[in-house]
Amino acid sequence: MSRRRQIYEGKAKILYEGPEPGTLIQYFKDDATAFNAQKKGTISGKGVLNNRISEHVFTLLAGIGVPTHFIRRLNMREQLIRQAEIIPIEVVVRNVAAGSIVKRLGLEEGSQLPRTIIEYYYKDDALGDPMVADEHIACFGWASQEEMHDIADMAIRVNDFMCGLFAGIGIRLVDFKLEFGRVFENDYARVILADEISPDGCRLWDMATNEKLDKDRFRQDLGGEVEAYQEVARRLGLLPEGDTTVLDMEKHRKSRTKK
Ligand code: TMP
Repeated sequence: MSRRRQIYEGKAKILYEGPEPGTLIQYFKDDATAFNAQKKGTISGKGVLNNRISEHVFTLLAGIGVPTHFIRRLNMREQLIRQAEIIPIEVVVRNVAAGSIVKRLGLEEGSQLPRTIIEYYYKDDALGDPMVADEHIACFGWASQEEMHDIADMAIRVNDFMCGLFAGIGIRLVDFKLEFGRVFENDYARVILADEISPDGCRLWDMATNEKLDKDRFRQDLGGEVEAYQEVARRLGLLPEGDTTVLDMEKHRKSRTKK
């Protein structure tokens, strides 16, 4: 394919060297994993949809003053981003009980939490991304107190904005995961939003039916993954009404591989 230098390959994305120093190209794969990669599969067309959805959300967030790594989309599966030193913490924001918190605390799935909760997980696949407290983050120097203050502040602002964005299209923002990175400007480090925001790392439920429009369709073997991601993109206004290009491409690919 290309002769660009690959910098990193993750479960759902690949990072390549960018055209200028301080930039990278983020390539969105169709690969899907769950339960720390114990379950693996592909959701054909997911990469294309996540590239578009993440572009859209990051652009809107930049518009309300949240600094992000996003520069511009390059093509169907790639976007140009600022190179950042990833802070090894997954920041999970929860509005409604679902997923691991339901099991951990014995809550009823779908119940509104009395207030929004922010949780931190240490990014380490070998350890299964364990939940950690601010104390661990400070003790082991994964991020400074000042950085954690900025991260919590941004996480709340992103949540407020995204709750409204999705409510406006009939979707309940149950929870989501964010990642942050450091960029250095004249010896001064600043925290920016990194990674992606897409149905891979969010729980999105249809407000009318509670239908899941996110990666839980894959995690729980519910089927209809691409259709769900496409529905999110369509409601965000990213696909013209009736546009089934991604699905058509997929049907075409399947019919070719069957022969
Ligand atoms: P959880 O309920 O499994 O802890 O997940 C909370 C949210 O974070 C959910 O929207 C899915 C997202 N998430 C990721 O994006 N990556 C992960 O590795 C995990 C465990 C969760």
